[in-house]
Amino acid sequence: MRKPLIAGNWKMNKTVEQARLLVSEMVPELHTVDVDTVLCPPFTTLMAVSAMLVGTRIGLGAQNLHWEASGAYTGEVSPQMVAELCQYVILGHSERRTYFGETDTTVNKKVKAALGVGLTPIVCVGETLEENEDKQTAAVVSRQVKVGLAELTTEQAMKLVIAYEPVWAIGTGRAATAAGANAVLADVIRPVLAEMFGKPASESIRILYGGSVTAANAAELFAQPDIDGGLVGGASLKSADFIKIVKAALS
Ligand code: PGA
Repeated sequence: MRKPLIAGNWKMNKTVEQARLLVSEMVPELHTVDVDTVLCPPFTTLMAVSAMLVGTRIGLGAQNLHWEASGAYTGEVSPQMVAELCQYVILGHSERRTYFGETDTTVNKKVKAALGVGLTPIVCVGETLEENEDKQTAAVVSRQVKVGLAELTTEQAMKLVIAYEPVWAIGTGRAATAAGANAVLADVIRPVLAEMFGKPASESIRILYGGSVTAANAAELFAQPDIDGGLVGGASLKSADFIKIVKAALS
């Protein structure tokens, strides 16, 4: 069975001092909970947070990386640099696609590079409001999965995590309905994974839901058969809320 995973995407929030405070509030409550919990704070805080997570069950993730191993890429961070501190990396988040020009092809390069250094990619897919209203959800999400995971072996695919995040649900307070989100996972993403990597792999790859997950709606979302946890933005910046969300994945 697929073990639940909850990842907190802090986005561009928290200085080192603020990060230390937030993590110190979370660790005592979360380090014994039998849910794969991952914190994804900004690059500048990874070192401090990683030191606080030693000996806990909580994983650490970055929010991006560059696909090249090293070189003249001012402002970028390499897969190996991320892997020194982290076990996970969020890739292809819609904010990176919208504001920083990421495409399915660059996401694919990043996924391969992350797997190459032993990181677990959390690969984000999801349709915009316009695409949703145009009934393009299945086409868009299928393309994002097919191109984003192109040329991976089944063994590699089984190591990664997918996050379905409808863009219209991110940061809007308007989450997808539990049944609606589950349907995209069950009827679009898992069948595409089965086509690419075979049915057993499609049934073992964890797929998260993201987009306005809160302490109030988490249990209903995570109770859906195909939703294996959440990628949580705003609510991951409040310790009490994030703790409730992680615990909601237990039942
Ligand atoms: P949100 O963000 O929970 O604030 O909607 C989710 C995400 O962007 O990963």
